[in-house]
Amino acid sequence: MPVTHAADESELTGLGSEPTAEELGAAGYTVFPDGKGLPEGRGTVSEGRAIYQQFCAACHGRNAGGEDAAALVGGRDSLTSERPRKTVESYWPYATTLWDYIRRSMPYESPGSLSDDEIYAVVAHLLHLGGIVGEDAVLDRETLPKVEMPNRDGFVSDDRPDTGGE
Ligand code: HEC
Repeated sequence: MPVTHAADESELTGLGSEPTAEELGAAGYTVFPDGKGLPEGRGTVSEGRAIYQQFCAACHGRNAGGEDAAALVGGRDSLTSERPRKTVESYWPYATTLWDYIRRSMPYESPGSLSDDEIYAVVAHLLHLGGIVGEDAVLDRETLPKVEMPNRDGFVSDDRPDTGGE
């Protein structure tokens, strides 16, 4: 389906309404792959380690290898094997998506409870666990989009006309 503007859609169907500024604010902002939308703030690997142990480890495992919830690191080079292990480290093409995902939905029981600095820090810790950034990495709106994920070039865009893709 072609991308239509929400307003045109409701005129056409008589359904829905344009969101108010408050509704948009409550839904929050989006961080794009190129880092557009990232807020001010910063976090380090060591700050992130402590936050991770406190708020994430119970479900994702002490070293993010998975416990009750998904493994977040590991599985690199497994994608073309018989048992692909899709994790943030092995599969996700952009580090910025990790920031956006955590801000929207983690910790599972209390999304929105971490500050922007804490999110930068926990992202730094996870990327360090995955061997993607060094121990001394400091992540912020400038440095995070420059992080190159291992599977960055592993995706192709779907250019069939009926998908609405480019
Ligand atoms: C109460 C359990 C729980 C806690 C605590 C928790 N998570 Fe999760 N997390 C989940 C569940 C459930 C999923 C859904 C994916 C799955 O496990 O299949 C998930 C998914 C994720 C994913 C996406 C994984 C993927 O590849 O799709 C990321 C990234 C993530 N969590 C990060 C975090 C971080 C960072 C924290 C701490 C700030 C955290 N989580 C705390 C349960 C939890």
